Amino acid sequence: MAQQELAGRTAVVTGAVQGIGRAIADAFAAAGAQVAAADVNAAAFPPASELPEGLRFVQLDVTDDAQVAEVVKAAAPDILVNVAGVVHHGAALECSDADWEQAMRLNVRSAFKMCQAALPAMVERRDGCVINISSVASSLLGVPARCAYSVSKAALLGLTRSVAADYIKANVRANAICPGTVRTPSWEQRVRDLAAAEGISEEEALARFVARQPLGRVGLPGEVAALAVYLASPAGSFATGQEFSIDGGWSGVK
Ligand SMILES: NC(=O)c1ccc[n+]([C@@H]2O[C@H](COP(=O)([O-])OP(=O)(O)OC[C@H]3O[C@@H](n4cnc5c(N)ncnc54)[C@H](O)[C@@H]3O)[C@@H](O)[C@H]2O)c1
Repeated sequence: MAQQELAGRTAVVTGAVQGIGRAIADAFAAAGAQVAAADVNAAAFPPASELPEGLRFVQLDVTDDAQVAEVVKAAAPDILVNVAGVVHHGAALECSDADWEQAMRLNVRSAFKMCQAALPAMVERRDGCVINISSVASSLLGVPARCAYSVSKAALLGLTRSVAADYIKANVRANAICPGTVRTPSWEQRVRDLAAAEGISEEEALARFVARQPLGRVGLPGEVAALAVYLASPAGSFATGQEFSIDGGWSGVK
């Protein structure tokens, strides 16, 4: 059996039906946590009978404040991982108001509302851990054609530091993870979209994404999940107010 670093812990992970969120939910359950894997896409929930111990799926639209309050109250998490997000394509001059507003609502405001819902109980118990999934595309690095997305992910770093500063005396930690390119369903769609937009093959589009990482490959959701387990576990208990890049050298290696 895997080491039970999160035994006795309760977690809510948003955007958990696929990709990075699913990998984190699975890894948390494997580490012994009781995990509410929350996602708007209930049609994609696996049958409960196929789930490992400790993992359950719950429908949640993170942009719906009433649902956020209800799900968080029911789960009473010690660990909150804000993963749900959307990637809009486009530079500042191509970014529509609708894309901007959706990026802020889904990528930033939802994490803020999740924190507002989860923090009172964490503070009362004097024990809590918030992890926000930001991105290398943020205040860390300017990435072409990612205006609304990068602004929203930079804001998540601000939210992370704010929560870390305000609740540190209550033993609540907050950190952000900034992944580089990670192989997930939505990224695979971005590869197809790039190929179509540029009139290139999918292999060429894939190669362009791979080239962003000096390590010469894209990351795997499980690699991000392992970092989340570390940050949520006793091993990570001295870390707060930080962003952790996991990006194949994209932001740190020339
Ligand atoms: N994949 C990458 O290369 C990459 C890199 C850096 C950061 N990230 C970030 O990691 C997070 C996850 O990325 P991914 O590639 O796994 O994404 P994904 O699109 O594959 O999965 C996102 C999940 O969020 C869910 N979701 C969407 N709207 C929701 C809502 N309103 N309420 C609840 N759930 C909702 C979707 O149903 C989906 O299951 C995102 O915040 C993304 O910005 C991804």
